[in-house]
Amino acid sequence: MSCDDKVDCGRRRLLVATSVAGGVAGVAAAIPFVSTFAPSERAKSAGAPVEVDISQIAPGQMMTVEWRGKPVWIIHRTKEMLDGLTKLTDRIADPKSDRPMQPEYAKNEHRSIKPEYLVAVGICTHLGCSPSEKFKTGAESGIDAEWTGGFLCPCHGSTFDLAGRVYKSKPAPDNLEIPPHYYLSDAKILIGEDKKGA
Ligand code: FES
Repeated sequence: MSCDDKVDCGRRRLLVATSVAGGVAGVAAAIPFVSTFAPSERAKSAGAPVEVDISQIAPGQMMTVEWRGKPVWIIHRTKEMLDGLTKLTDRIADPKSDRPMQPEYAKNEHRSIKPEYLVAVGICTHLGCSPSEKFKTGAESGIDAEWTGGFLCPCHGSTFDLAGRVYKSKPAPDNLEIPPHYYLSDAKILIGEDKKGA
């Protein structure tokens, strides 16, 4: 995979290396004891849901947490950011998210449960690089004068808006994935699980 952004790609390689190392250790541990096929405590905790306090994310800012070895972005969108999404329909490949890249409860205009918070897996749907944040708008963004904020994948140039929707005619085939999640309270979300009974 070619890559111009050494920082992001270095991080991605580290994630891959970590996953591979974890997989090898898991196999080695299973060999002597056939009865230990049940997931280890370590494996269970690696796949466990992640509770996140979102109250400290200022409007217009984002935070990244790790879930199952993947970066998950939580973006606190301002009204201006949300308004920008409505102007992009003609430039987005799948503006209504008809492809199943999100749970049903996030299949809406904002691709989220609450309009102001986007929760998305920060991995490009082309070949898996980690896109970079481009929140500046217009020509100042370095992308184009119409840019309303979003993300640029440094590997092959795919661009995504602030709902994780991919722009038309880019290498990435799909919008960013929205992971299962729900609100434990106004200030806390749980990533990795759907609300029971929802
Ligand atoms: S990995 Fe190719 S554009 Fe993102």
